[in-house]
Amino acid sequence: MSDVQQTFVMVKPDGVRRRLVGEVVSRIEAKGYDIKEMKLFMIDESLAKKHYGEHTDKPFFGELVEFITSGPVVAMVVEGADAVLGMRSIMGATNPIEAPPGSIRGDLATVIGENIVHGSDSPESAEREVNLFFG
Ligand code: RTP
Ligand code: MG
Repeated sequence: MSDVQQTFVMVKPDGVRRRLVGEVVSRIEAKGYDIKEMKLFMIDESLAKKHYGEHTDKPFFGELVEFITSGPVVAMVVEGADAVLGMRSIMGATNPIEAPPGSIRGDLATVIGENIVHGSDSPESAEREVNLFFG
């Protein structure tokens, strides 16, 4: 049985700079999900560190925070049947080289540090991230 879920999705600064917001939103809508909330804004350092808290100890943490605060993002709450896993599927793997053609990252990105889009990786992360950005 499918489960109606909400997930947190974000077009990252590279996606906004490259004018791919419409492309990403179009794929989410075409898939059949509902966009329940959406806003364009700049993430500050404090929110970036909270959002990427799980990566604090990774060597790329500094770059990650710098990148995600480098320009406006478009944050969304996306809803639909099994939306958490479903969004991860239409996004493709984290590294665009491993993301299949047809996926957002597979079609539109080349390097792991600029992979266009974020989507929550579990229902628990989704709840945390929806509250962090829209609570
Ligand atoms: P995201 O959180 O952005 O949706 O991506 P993800 O779940 O697919 O990947 P995650 O492991 O959460 O990593 C977050 C972001 O960090 C960057 N990254 N760089 N240099 C590296 O080895 C490396 N690994 C991850 C990516 O931009 C990834 O989206
Ligand atoms: Mg992640």
